[in-house]
Amino acid sequence: MKLLVTGAAGMLGQDLSAALEDAGYTVVGTTREILDITNTDNVKQIISEILPNIVIHCAAYTAVDKAELEKDKAMLVNAEGTKNIAKICAEWEIPLVYISTDYVFDGTKNTPYTVTDEPNPINCYGYSKLKGEEYIQKYCSKYHIIRTSWLYGHHGKNFVETMLKLQNKNPLRVINDQIGSPTWTVDLSEAILKIIKMPYGVYHASGEGETSWYEFAREILGNRNNLQPCTTAEYQTEAIRPAYSVLQNSFPCRHWKAALKDYMALRLEEENE
Ligand SMILES: NC(=O)c1ccc[n+]([C@@H]2O[C@H](COP(=O)([O-])OP(=O)(O)OC[C@H]3O[C@@H](n4cnc5c(N)ncnc54)[C@H](OP(=O)(O)O)[C@@H]3O)[C@@H](O)[C@H]2O)c1
Repeated sequence: MKLLVTGAAGMLGQDLSAALEDAGYTVVGTTREILDITNTDNVKQIISEILPNIVIHCAAYTAVDKAELEKDKAMLVNAEGTKNIAKICAEWEIPLVYISTDYVFDGTKNTPYTVTDEPNPINCYGYSKLKGEEYIQKYCSKYHIIRTSWLYGHHGKNFVETMLKLQNKNPLRVINDQIGSPTWTVDLSEAILKIIKMPYGVYHASGEGETSWYEFAREILGNRNNLQPCTTAEYQTEAIRPAYSVLQNSFPCRHWKAALKDYMALRLEEENE
């Protein structure tokens, strides 16, 4: 079984490719240099040559704040790029797996978002990812759309690494009124392995439980005097973010605290090697 992964050099792409290989799949990992998803001819040529059994589409424009300043670029990659992938997968009847985001929701609920809740993105990144979902639903009949949230992992910029880098900043102010669910890319990869064997449709897969960015930071760094909670209003960013973006998982997932504990332990082990 041959699986093509887009964005294979990204944070999720790297852990996912390893997990798929461990599970016995043949993985063709593609980077922007081999397969630029915004180049229609390139997408057609590469996918038609490789003809994978499944395409797992991880490539994306993921800089949430920068997307507000580069709206066209975010739309080009996340919406038009995904349209290119969707159309060629539809042509060859290749099942398509698309990684989407909790930021398709507006955050006005106070209970976890279900797969049947209506998306209503409030920032450009969320809007562009939702357009990607819509193109897949328009062109493909064989698809899994997997929404996840607050990703961290070994191979990319993420909140855990940022907190570790800034741990001695004084004060280190972290937002306490945005609630979500941190997800380790290794756990998400395991969930993707399960979902690709399930019926086509929309799925939610993120760490179980919920927390604020501030509580997440406390779990990473422990209790320390320099770490201080602040509100969204006090911490201005380019993009507005949903106040509450917890996803109701489509099946049981590991609690975010247990995953973080393992991630931190593995990190420490690697540092000591
Ligand atoms: N990070 C999160 O918190 C989060 C939360 C929810 C959902 N997601 C979704 O999860 C997926 C993986 O996210 P991630 O955090 O692993 O992202 P990432 O580390 O930013 O990886 C994305 C990859 O996509 C590649 N890419 C960008 N534009 C491309 C293009 N035109 N053609 C081909 N490749 C291109 C990037 O390559 P370059 O490095 O060359 O730009 C990068 O390797 C994305 O779909 C994202 O929307 C992420």
